Amino acid sequence: MYSKLINYRMDKNRIYFQYEGDQEGKEPCIEVISDAIINVFIDYTGMGHCSRAIEGELGKRLNAGIGAEDIKPESVSLEASGVVIKTKLMTVIVGDGFQVDFYDRFGDPLSLAYRGERKKSGEISLPALELLKKEGHAVSKVSVDYRIQELRSLDEDDYIYGLGDKAGGLNKRCYAYEMWNSDIPDPHEDCFKSLYKSIPFMLVSKYEGAYGIFFDNHNKTCFDLGKESEEYYWFGAEEGNLDYYFIAGDNLKEVITGYTYLTGRPPMQQLWTLGFHQSRWGYGSEKEIRGIAEEMRKNQLPCDCIHFDIDYMDHFKVFTWNQETYEDARKVISDFKDMGIKTVTIIDPGVKVEKGYNVYEEGMEQGCFARTPEGEVYVNEVWPGDAVYPDFGDPKVRRWWGKNHQFLVDMGVDGVWNDMNEPASFRGPLPDDVVFTDEDQESSHKHMHNLYGHNMAKAAYEGWKELTGKRPFVITRACYSGSQKYAVGWTGDNHSIWSHLRMAIPQMCNMGMSGMGFIGTDVGGFGSDCTPELFARWMQIGCFSPLFRNHCAQGQRMQEPWQFGEKVLAISRKYIRLRYALLPYIYDLMRESELTGIPMLRPLVLEYEKDEDVKNRNDEFMLGDRMLIAPVVEQGAREKLVYLPEGIWYDYWTGEEILGENFIIREAPLDVCPIYVKAGAVIPKYPIRMNVDEEKDDLLVLEMYPGKGCWRHYQDNGTDFAYRDGAYNEYEIKNDSGELNVQILHQGYKLYGGYELRLREKDEPMKFV
Ligand code: GLC
Repeated sequence: MYSKLINYRMDKNRIYFQYEGDQEGKEPCIEVISDAIINVFIDYTGMGHCSRAIEGELGKRLNAGIGAEDIKPESVSLEASGVVIKTKLMTVIVGDGFQVDFYDRFGDPLSLAYRGERKKSGEISLPALELLKKEGHAVSKVSVDYRIQELRSLDEDDYIYGLGDKAGGLNKRCYAYEMWNSDIPDPHEDCFKSLYKSIPFMLVSKYEGAYGIFFDNHNKTCFDLGKESEEYYWFGAEEGNLDYYFIAGDNLKEVITGYTYLTGRPPMQQLWTLGFHQSRWGYGSEKEIRGIAEEMRKNQLPCDCIHFDIDYMDHFKVFTWNQETYEDARKVISDFKDMGIKTVTIIDPGVKVEKGYNVYEEGMEQGCFARTPEGEVYVNEVWPGDAVYPDFGDPKVRRWWGKNHQFLVDMGVDGVWNDMNEPASFRGPLPDDVVFTDEDQESSHKHMHNLYGHNMAKAAYEGWKELTGKRPFVITRACYSGSQKYAVGWTGDNHSIWSHLRMAIPQMCNMGMSGMGFIGTDVGGFGSDCTPELFARWMQIGCFSPLFRNHCAQGQRMQEPWQFGEKVLAISRKYIRLRYALLPYIYDLMRESELTGIPMLRPLVLEYEKDEDVKNRNDEFMLGDRMLIAPVVEQGAREKLVYLPEGIWYDYWTGEEILGENFIIREAPLDVCPIYVKAGAVIPKYPIRMNVDEEKDDLLVLEMYPGKGCWRHYQDNGTDFAYRDGAYNEYEIKNDSGELNVQILHQGYKLYGGYELRLREKDEPMKFV
């Protein structure tokens, strides 16, 4: 469409380009968002930006089509190679055919437009496709042409990460994916193109430097990351605009910080949310669920939360409680509170069609549900049978939905778990043309599908915040870029199979690099029957997952820690206790996440990007920058081949000192998850407690490892937003080869009752957990 570049014009921080011939009224644009972030935009829809991921002042400005006064490129000039735009951190050259090349601050190429033709492969004729379908093959159409398409060159040593919640390994190079939120209960395999969440953001780690591309198009989009050719990758969409953000960085961390500058950072959650959560679909009654809480305590298992799945509702009607199976639900919840256990209830979007049911009636009256093009309220089927779909893209509906949470707040519930919000439907997918609202405009399911979970989570978050004033704990299954501002996530319906234990690591790492750092898997696996060994190993990963929740499906083997015999119960206790010990450290990481977007759980490549041995490392991960976890993920394995990056490391259990950039074989009997701590680290810990609120601020343990290091520690009331007005403490903790120096950098909250110093000596086994 674009031929020879003739000229450009500038409007504030935007540069528009003119091409020879007819450019069909579409003037492509480059906007300088910051020195490291560039927006590339072609307004195919004629509606300008319509970002639902970028919010706040920046989002408002972009969506209103207004340039910024305060951001400017350093220089813009027309040269032989094209229009050269310079910022402090990068150079962008826009040439003929609206080919855009990005260079780093040293002038080296970061990402070049691919100028060759696509080498399509694997295309299939219609009859051949029909034949495949007859045997039930799922045929992907990801290799087709898209109306909007961007091809970019790949370098031999590029590694690609991110893309949100996708099956398969850490490095996404050579795979193709689709962004279409999908509820798929079958065991997720590497070949799956899409899962529950759509985060069209990819990160590229290069030999030198890194960059990210956020394709802010919430329609169905596709990313072919070198599957078609090793020379290029491409992304595209049928609908919407070409609207992507190029984020340059010296490393992947800077790219994540840039991406979360745009789409928002995960806010601090309440401290208890980092505790252990127990859940199961099928806790059918008051008696049963009380029994779970009692067993927890009887077995000396710390636990902060029990989840109530759909079973608690009256005929699966949202914002109701079953009075037949629960004699007094309010009492259950308050008794749990007395035991230090919080309650989270599931809330699905589907509202049961039933005369006299207040949520349905009220929603009907206020026009809150999606409609058919003919104007009828659209009905499909989910758990309660015939159900209607709240139109969450409408701010009025979000407010209404948010207020409905009053019912749960009054019951004493502490958080909400949003499920089935792809949205799921049992009578076939929702047709494209079901009428939904997109803020102030009419839209359709086709355009709003990927935003459904995002908008539902936003409604829940805002409603909960208004009703309680506390940090809302919303868990979501479906999401879009930016949902991290409202909800934490879990990876949906995994299975109790070893391949899913293995996949948990890259899946959580990529979610973290895609902005959704507070993530977890169903520990033990949701579908299929767990084995004692698999459960023990899963608890060893769950212990370090931001969301540590044991959950499984009804009909599967019971999966509470005491269901697998004494040995596995003891292992479960050991790792839950370790989690509770690590709470202040994890809380520090959550604070770091809120400030920078860097996830708590992270792949080794985030910390040691130059190390070739970590770029594809799928079976280890880091908790923050000081702890490396190398869990066993193979059935029967009692040894683990561990890679340790540069530096000196200490075996957490034995105190053995190990020099990094090295592979070692670590013995790993069933009760051992290999853990390594960096030399000079200080790990803040709590004494073990049964729930986080127990004497929270009494004593801080400082576990010091040989060497030197300087760390930050953060503390606040763990509950509400007072910290945003300064009610927090920040400490600097220095370890000078065993000498401790603690300085208070900010004091706005009551200080700890005391410190306990634990010096870890070389070769001295761990005495605690
Ligand atoms: C979905 C959820 C699962 C839940 C079940 C019943 O499958 O993913 O976590 O237990 O629905 O509500």
